[in-house]
Amino acid sequence: MRRLGLLAVLLSVLLVVPLAFSQRATAQDASSAHGKYLVALAGCGDCHGEKLQGGPLFFQPAKGVKLPGPWASKAPKIAGFPMFKTDAQAVTFLKTGVMPDGSHPRIPMPDFRFNDADAKAVVAYIRAFPH
Ligand code: HEC
Repeated sequence: MRRLGLLAVLLSVLLVVPLAFSQRATAQDASSAHGKYLVALAGCGDCHGEKLQGGPLFFQPAKGVKLPGPWASKAPKIAGFPMFKTDAQAVTFLKTGVMPDGSHPRIPMPDFRFNDADAKAVVAYIRAFPH
């Protein structure tokens, strides 16, 4: 009888543990797919390059247009998000547009207002991006 109980425990561990892992993997895949979708939708690659490696912008403001701030003519590499020490810093940036040192990147980098779940999905996707 005792052995049967042990067997039941063993069996449930064998069945439940892989199930838990497979569910976690699915949640991660879904988050990553959502992050990929959001990065495409927000057009990060339009300025930072398809591979998010950065480079010069291929457009500039029309002559005579008064901008609300200075213009950046290059977009930096963002693959892997090396400028953020923690994921929380990157999430804050995507929700507020404020960098860890309190600065705002120059125009034309948009001030994004992602919600928490979307910001986390974008961070997961860009962190895992080949860099
Ligand atoms: C319209 C062009 C444009 C789009 C779209 C854009 N960026 Fe940018 N981004 C820039 C430029 C230009 C800079 C550099 C600003 C500067 O040098 O002050 C920048 C700066 C940044 C920085 C700060 C880098 C640093 O080290 O200071 C991050 C992070 C960033 N962008 C992430 C993103 C993400 C993530 C997306 C998509 C969700 C995105 N950007 C979409 C143009 C763009």
